Amino acid sequence: MKIFLDTANIDEIKEAVSWGILDGVTTNPSLVAKEKRDFKELLQEICSIVDGDVSAEVISTDFEGMVKEARELVKISDNIIVKIPLIKDGLKAVKFLKSEGIRANVTLCFSPTQAILAAKAGAYYISPFVGRLDDISSDGMSLIRQIVQIYKNYNFETKVLVASVRHPMHVVEAGLIGADVVTMPFKVLEQLIKHPLTDIGLERFLQDWKKAQAELKLEKVS
Ligand code: E4P
Repeated sequence: MKIFLDTANIDEIKEAVSWGILDGVTTNPSLVAKEKRDFKELLQEICSIVDGDVSAEVISTDFEGMVKEARELVKISDNIIVKIPLIKDGLKAVKFLKSEGIRANVTLCFSPTQAILAAKAGAYYISPFVGRLDDISSDGMSLIRQIVQIYKNYNFETKVLVASVRHPMHVVEAGLIGADVVTMPFKVLEQLIKHPLTDIGLERFLQDWKKAQAELKLEKVS
């Protein structure tokens, strides 16, 4: 399973890279807006830090505009995957960009039918948003189950990238289902490490060690 960070924040990306577990980054216009920096410069910096795919989203919603933006975005770095919204012109753009060797991450997927069309258009990644479905009393993870099964049935090459992740159980379920990638906010990535028994166990090991060292010292003196 590949782990991506869903952020445009340089400090968060650097921290995750330092743990040795980061496979890529996904951004979106809302995440980029939070950083208040020039889009291209920010992407350049992210790509220089991350050894893996970095998704950058187009703003246009028409075919020509998306293709134009995509061509510019991929000039930034070989790491760039162009994020395209799941609309009619988006599918058209995905198909066309593939013929130019440009890889697309089709975003804002909320149904298995949308995922089928994205795969048929030649998407490199499909991004189903699990958290936003859960938010409206739908079952986000059952969408992942459906897409993974359908793609398997027809040997679609499109990779399933679980997005809009809100908590560690989304990550566990994605792993059990066999999704290719999970992208998550830094907060969730940190939650994946934490276990109270690890903290308690480590504290006890260190206390026992300290106590034994002190006793050995005393024995030497007497
Ligand atoms: C996906 O690539 C999106 O950037 C992201 O996962 C959306 O998550 P949100 O629903 O928490 O905004």
